Amino acid sequence: MKAFTVYEDKYNNKNIVNNGNKFMTGNGYMGFRGTLEEYTKNELVACNISGLYDKQGDSWREPINAPNGLFTTLIVNGNEISLLQLEPVEHMQSIDIKEGIHRRNTIWDTKDGKIIVKAERFISLEDFHLICLKYSLIVDKQCEVVIKTGIDGDVWDINGPHLENYILEDQNGLIKILSTTQELKVPVVVAEICKKSFEAKEVIEKGEKSVIRCIEFKAEPNVEYTIYKYVSVYTGNDETSNAEQDCEANALKAVYIGYEKAYNEHIIQWKYRWDVSDVIIEGNEEDQLAIRYSIYQLQIIAPVHSNKLSIPARGLSGQTYKGAIFWDTEMFMLPFFLHTAPQVALNLVNYRIRTLDGARKKAEYYGFKGAFYAWESQENGEDACSDFNVTDIFTGRPVKTYFKDKQVHISAAVSYAIWETYKFSGDIKLLLRGGAEVILECARFFYSYAYYKEDKDRYEILDVIGPDEYHERVNNNAYTSKMVYHTLDVALQALELLKKGYPKEYLELVSRLNYSVEIANIIKFKEKLYVPGPDKKTLIIEQFDGYEKLEDCSLTEVKSRLLDPKEYWGGGHGVASNTKIIKQADVILMLYLFRNQYSQEVKKANWEYYEPRTEHGSSLSPCIYSLLSCEIGNEKWAYPFFVKTANVDLTGETKQFAGSIYIGGTHPAANGGAWMATILGFAGLNVKVGEITINPNLPKTWTKLSFNVIVRGEKYLINITQKDQKIIKL
Ligand code: BGC
Repeated sequence: MKAFTVYEDKYNNKNIVNNGNKFMTGNGYMGFRGTLEEYTKNELVACNISGLYDKQGDSWREPINAPNGLFTTLIVNGNEISLLQLEPVEHMQSIDIKEGIHRRNTIWDTKDGKIIVKAERFISLEDFHLICLKYSLIVDKQCEVVIKTGIDGDVWDINGPHLENYILEDQNGLIKILSTTQELKVPVVVAEICKKSFEAKEVIEKGEKSVIRCIEFKAEPNVEYTIYKYVSVYTGNDETSNAEQDCEANALKAVYIGYEKAYNEHIIQWKYRWDVSDVIIEGNEEDQLAIRYSIYQLQIIAPVHSNKLSIPARGLSGQTYKGAIFWDTEMFMLPFFLHTAPQVALNLVNYRIRTLDGARKKAEYYGFKGAFYAWESQENGEDACSDFNVTDIFTGRPVKTYFKDKQVHISAAVSYAIWETYKFSGDIKLLLRGGAEVILECARFFYSYAYYKEDKDRYEILDVIGPDEYHERVNNNAYTSKMVYHTLDVALQALELLKKGYPKEYLELVSRLNYSVEIANIIKFKEKLYVPGPDKKTLIIEQFDGYEKLEDCSLTEVKSRLLDPKEYWGGGHGVASNTKIIKQADVILMLYLFRNQYSQEVKKANWEYYEPRTEHGSSLSPCIYSLLSCEIGNEKWAYPFFVKTANVDLTGETKQFAGSIYIGGTHPAANGGAWMATILGFAGLNVKVGEITINPNLPKTWTKLSFNVIVRGEKYLINITQKDQKIIKL
């Protein structure tokens, strides 16, 4: 294993779907699944476009996959040579995560001799619309070859088809597919130009949704025949007045630059990315690769090019989870970007500022004031989550779930993220240009959501779902109430800050939002908000009212009650609903986020209590258990959870299908969690204004941990060994 390469050296068609995730490439504008050139929609090929959604009929809205400009297959002496038809004698698929290059190398032994295909591709980090492929063929006996290559517009969709009005073009060596989305009629254009290292006859074949070149030639033994494909992708969502023209011009520009130069420009951008974000672990090769791989996954989905986009829960690996943005981004991915790519962090929070009106509409819809952010947010902040988000495996009927209407902690996550970004960057513009407004509107929402209990003279947050989705509509979920408290706290801090430093802007904001009455409400609400605390004797914080009374049985016992492995564990009659088994970190997440406010004894007692009761049924869970273990100073507890988090997309050991629906994809929250566990956990990095501290507790096998962080424009190098530690300002 090399520290920058992930590879498989055997072909196994059972891995096709999983490898699509594992060997992903991308650049934040688009993600390309790690499928091979001859694959089609049956193998889940996808060129997933960030931020462009479509709805077909009554099914849910999802992001679109653009036509596949890389499609290439081979015919030798009249027979199709493809992994889907013929077992290879040798096969290797790899991803070089240092340079963002996908490679495959396949050898077939056929009656016409040995056939070798080598391919290399990248999604350019220099030109966000560009995909390049170099595809070579070598045979050992003279033969008649047809390379079929072009644009396959018959794309894979979960709830499609999303594209219509296909126009197929072929002019002066450039082929093109123009289409529009069904719902909003947004143009999607893919253009391709193919250059060859050899002379050949070329005919264009047009299908219903494809334009394919048939490159015909006689291949001589042991000569390498190479084609270079330059594929350009544009949509009407881009900053362009003419997507079609720009798309064509971009393909032509790429040809002019040439493969080698485009390749070099791309890898230089990767070098810049790694210069700030690389994490070096010495002493354990597996962990080294896993942390770099997690960082790679975050880099390929980072919206560097746009401050209008955020990152979907499954990255750009396809249409699962509706391509929607969840709290995953704010709570699990943002810290990586804050510390290594501040502009991306700003882009991410800007997405929430931009979609504030969507959150206002949602609050109003449910009869509340302020901003209630979408549980599953798409381009304008509307909620893509359906009221019946789960299907009953036995009856096939949709089951009412309350994720959308009761996971109110999403608004607190948004406020939390904006405040963290402000604290980290010191950038007051963030607050002045919408950040403060979002926080104030979230605080207002919580005030209108809360209940005042006269008998107890306190406010309570009732009828919610905390991070543990298996227990729906609970009262006084400790995590949610604590996060609400935090929202109120930062709303008041933001008001104070503006009042003192920016009185004009303060007055404008307070008057525009009609907030003066609200300020008094929020002060009172904060004073009297009930946040469940540790039990005096046991130190356990009850996850929600009545949790203590639920059946206390083991995870194994709950699993054994499943009648079908695909059954949903939560909701009305789920196997976990009436037990203490929880889906993911809940109280533990709260203890981690507010670690300075709880004693080590409380943290330890709760970790020991909740961990055996946690299914870790969400990939968001293990990293939090790892982080809190580090906080307690117990690296032994932390390490296995780090390993689980950091390997999630390498092993692919997660659910891929629910019934017939593909729910797999990559796990960016876990990727961000792996970075947090390493840097904020094992290194114990803590950045405060004017002060950077570390408090390391390295896993036993790590002889060295080394990484960079950027704080307010200054770069620092941190070197930690088992004996020594240094923070060096660069
Ligand atoms: C988790 C949520 C998460 C979502 C998207 C669910 O399984 O319970 O917390 O936001 O997946 O990753």
